[in-house]
Amino acid sequence: MNTVKTVRELRAAVARARSEGKRIAFVPTMGNLHSGHAALVAKAAQRVDFVVASIFVNPLQFGPSEDLDKYPRTLAADQEQLLQAGCHLLFAPTVEEMYPEGMTGQTRVSVPQLSEGLCGASRPGHFEGVATVVSKLFNMVQPDLAVFGQKDFQQLAVIRALVRDLNMPIQIIGEPTVRAEDGLALSSRNGYLNQEQRAIAPTLYRVLRQMAEAIRDGQRDYPALLEQGQQQLLAGGFKPDYLEVRQALSLRPAVDCDRDLVILAAAYLGNTRLIDNLHLNLDDQ
Ligand code: PAF
Repeated sequence: MNTVKTVRELRAAVARARSEGKRIAFVPTMGNLHSGHAALVAKAAQRVDFVVASIFVNPLQFGPSEDLDKYPRTLAADQEQLLQAGCHLLFAPTVEEMYPEGMTGQTRVSVPQLSEGLCGASRPGHFEGVATVVSKLFNMVQPDLAVFGQKDFQQLAVIRALVRDLNMPIQIIGEPTVRAEDGLALSSRNGYLNQEQRAIAPTLYRVLRQMAEAIRDGQRDYPALLEQGQQQLLAGGFKPDYLEVRQALSLRPAVDCDRDLVILAAAYLGNTRLIDNLHLNLDDQ
């Protein structure tokens, strides 16, 4: 696996692969990789002959009081994981390489509606930062397909919309969330949890599972269900940010007749904000 740091080297390596008739898959990341990321790369490697990953901690998607500076940078360990997972080329640019003119005047990509509410409400500008950097990376790599984790459900919806609306010829693949044995969704931010918080953390997914069970059993009083879920999170030691039942494609609040649903949650343990979701299609029962 080669690591390149400039757009020029990236384009040359991708052009070489293309000239050999290879199809290109792309897995963008912010590094500090875990087995969830490795699963995305492995899925990409099953589908095509040349897998490009990127590691770039994108300042544009972090708010002023967020963890940009303390976000772990673990390049050597990440390179090893990517190699094992079947990655062929790693693009690890600097901030100057990605934003040579600085970020203030940078053209932005914004996806209305889907970016509003949920994580968009507590992280203003976050999805604009994501949509902008992903658009830039897509233009740099020009992959046939790109693989993202379903753990970031709203992010995946935003990316699907931007690819559709900007007519990018890229197939977007969403891969199921990888979980620890106790159900906690793998996330780079789990590393911020102390021992006590780590022990509590699986409650988040447990609450989502209980809510899904109630919906499958016919419960449609979503406000009551959400209130109960919030209470369970509070009792478990979380400070809930949001807990919502949404229609899975549009992400608008669910109504009684919706069948394709997603329950989404964000909650704090200390200063660490965890997110998770559970997608349930009542027609699949
Ligand atoms: O999910 C992430 O790691 C990031 O939001 C992404 C998609 C790599 C954009 O910076």
